[in-house]
Parts: sequence; structure tokens; C-alpha cells
Amino acid sequence: MNIVNLASHEQPPMDLLLLADPSPKLVEEYIQRGQCYVAKAEELILGVYVLLPTRPETVEIVNIAVDERHQGQGIGKKLVNHAIETARQLGYKTIEIGTGNSSIGQLALYQKCGFRMTWIDRDFFIRHYEEPIYENGMQVIDMVRLSQDL
Ligand code: ACO
Ligand code: ACO
Repeated sequence: MNIVNLASHEQPPMDLLLLADPSPKLVEEYIQRGQCYVAKAEELILGVYVLLPTRPETVEIVNIAVDERHQGQGIGKKLVNHAIETARQLGYKTIEIGTGNSSIGQLALYQKCGFRMTWIDRDFFIRHYEEPIYENGMQVIDMVRLSQDL
């Protein structure tokens, strides 16, 4: 499996991006401004992440997803670590990520990759999404913000 920057003529894998973020509008908006990286095995896209510069010297993983048939096999961890290394090589000083209050597995993964919690964006998912979202038996309401120095 290789992780590569998606070429400008290639279509981003919308089906995967929508697994991480149910809003096509938000996804369309940030893939225009960010860089999309994909995990490929024999031309099949197994995973994706999007890096978006947000503030001076700061970049955010705004979307990360692995094909459902290939989750739990270490691909997500490889993508997160690749994003961290890419951000470092591009000269950024801080990398950030945010996820829902209910995203227990994601919070575990990001902390295992060195992210620390910084703050809570309260009511983020109420303000930015029209439909209520549920996960692990909980409503997704707040965004947990995490970061790490590079
Ligand atoms: N407790 C402890 N550790 C956990 C838990 C838990 N409940 N759940 C997961 N983990 C750990 C696993 O044990 C593993 O760590 P390990 O290697 O030390 O055992 C790690 O988290 C998950 O590892 P991977 O197998 O690499 O993860 P996967 O390939 O399944 O990718 C991902 C993770 C991207 C979150 C995938 O499940 C996915 O696509 N989910 C749907 C989309 C999504 O939610 N994306 C993130 C939204 S937030 C955002 O995009 C910024
Ligand atoms: N994802 C989603 N839901 C989960 C998860 C998970 N990974 N883990 C637990 N839950 C949910 C369960 O599904 C259940 O909810 P549900 O009824 O909607 O299904 C709920 O959390 C747990 O319910 P109980 O069975 O009532 O919990 P339990 O009797 O096991 O008590 C406690 C929980 C007190 C945390 C117990 O496990 C314990 O004593 N742990 C060790 C001590 C400890 O950690 N205490 C808390 C420290 S913080 C403090 O003291 C302030």
C-alpha cells in the first residue's frame, strides 16, 4: 500500500470523504482549498485524508477515512502518521484535528498518534449540520479539538 498526493486531474474519493463528514457542501468546500492524500493498493483507494492550512504555520487534518471493508487493519494509523510527517516536511509547526464528542475510537487513534486535547468547540455539530447525527448511542454535539507540535 502506498500513500500518495492525489493528482490534480484525479477525482477525490467522495464516498470515503463522506464517511468522515456527512456534509457534501463542507467537503466540496475544503477539498478545493486543501491537499488530498490517498492510500492506494493496486490502484484501489482504501483510505484518504485532507490537509488544510488554517493559520500561519498550522495545518489541520480536516477529513480522514478508511473504506469500511478495510477498517481496523492499521490503515487509519498509517494515514494519521503520514499526515504528521507530511506536515512536518512542509514546514508547519502545529498539526490539528477535530472530532465528535461521541467518536470514541477516533479519539483513541488520534491520542495514540501523539495528539493532545486542547479545547471543545461546543455545539459545533448543531451549528454546522442540518440533521442531528448519532454515533455510539450518543448525539454528536461538540467537537473535541486536538493538536500536536511538529
Ligand atoms: N479504545 C481504544 N483504542 C481504540 C478504540 C477504542 N474504543 N477504537 C479504536 N482504537 C484504536 C485501535 O486499537 C487502533 O490502535 P492500535 O493500532 O494501537 O490497536 C486505532 O485506534 C485504530 O487503528 P486503525 O485500524 O489504523 O484504524 P482504521 O484503519 O479503522 O481507521 C478511521 C480509523 C479513519 C477513524 C476509520 O475507522 C474510519 O474511516 N471511520 C469512519 C470515518 C471517520 O469517523 N473518520 C474520522 C472523522 S474525524 C475527521 O475526519 C477529522
Ligand atoms: N462506547 C459507547 N458506550 C460505552 C462505551 C463505549 N466504548 N463504554 C461504555 N459505554 C456505555 C455503555 O454502553 C453503557 O451505556 P448504555 O446503557 O446506554 O449501553 C454505559 O456506558 C455504562 O453503563 P454501566 O453498565 O451502567 O456502567 P458500569 O456499571 O460498568 O459503571 C463505571 C461504569 C463506574 C465507570 C465502572 O466501569 C467502574 O467502576 N470503572 C472503574 C472505576 C472508574 O473508572 N470510575 C470512574 C472514574 S472518573 C470519576 O470517578 C469521577
